[in-house]
Amino acid sequence: QEIHYFDEVDSTNNAAKKLAANGCPEGTIVVAESQVGGRGRLARGWFSPPGKGIWLSVVLRPPFSPMDAAKCTLMAAVGVTRAINSVTGIGCGIKWPNDILWQGRKVVGILTEMSAEMDAINFVVIGMGINVNVNQEDFPSEIASVATSLSVAAGCEISRIKLLTAMLSELEAVYMLAKNSGFALVLEEWKKNSITLGQQVDVYGIDRNFSGQAFDIDADGALLIKTFQGVERVLAGDVSIRP
Ligand code: BTN
Repeated sequence: QEIHYFDEVDSTNNAAKKLAANGCPEGTIVVAESQVGGRGRLARGWFSPPGKGIWLSVVLRPPFSPMDAAKCTLMAAVGVTRAINSVTGIGCGIKWPNDILWQGRKVVGILTEMSAEMDAINFVVIGMGINVNVNQEDFPSEIASVATSLSVAAGCEISRIKLLTAMLSELEAVYMLAKNSGFALVLEEWKKNSITLGQQVDVYGIDRNFSGQAFDIDADGALLIKTFQGVERVLAGDVSIRP
């Protein structure tokens, strides 16, 4: 396995995509102390201060079809949740599709990017940003009310190395589970940890906005929502949970 460690990079996802395009093996990881161009979903940035988090990207070459890239995000969310729960003991939950929250505030963001040709995946880069030891007062004001860190949640410093080790082994275990035993088991675990299912949500989709009750996710990881018009299926976009 290749591990690429940087003191500072623009974005670990960018570095991982370059390595992947040059043929690095599956399981290659890129980790950095800080990112100066950390990226979030929907063209947002990602606050990545030095030494305070785990800014990590993993290269996979999954046997899934490009349609199934959403599965990688769900797998990562399950693996990271397992690791956080075992290392820190705080109870956090998954907000569809890719956020891990503690008491309504985001502690982890996941950004999955892929390269596909024809009907096969070339590679997938799963980028994970974990706010490990960020002080609450250090978050930029735009995200201060919606973000927090594991150390704030736990009330003490968290060992980044312990958490990173646990994450990598859980991610591998979840990936093996998906490949060998089928994706249904991963979905089940995702659902168990979900804070979205059963809630009233507002959906900001790629091409439309609507509201309804999130009641399930399907085999592709799409969120299913009951509305007055019927059942809507959302594969990408943003969801906010009504208080
Ligand atoms: C989001 O919630 O919008 C996704 C955030 C993903 C952040 C991580 S940090 C490591 C990797 N490199 C990046 O530039 N982004 C991801």
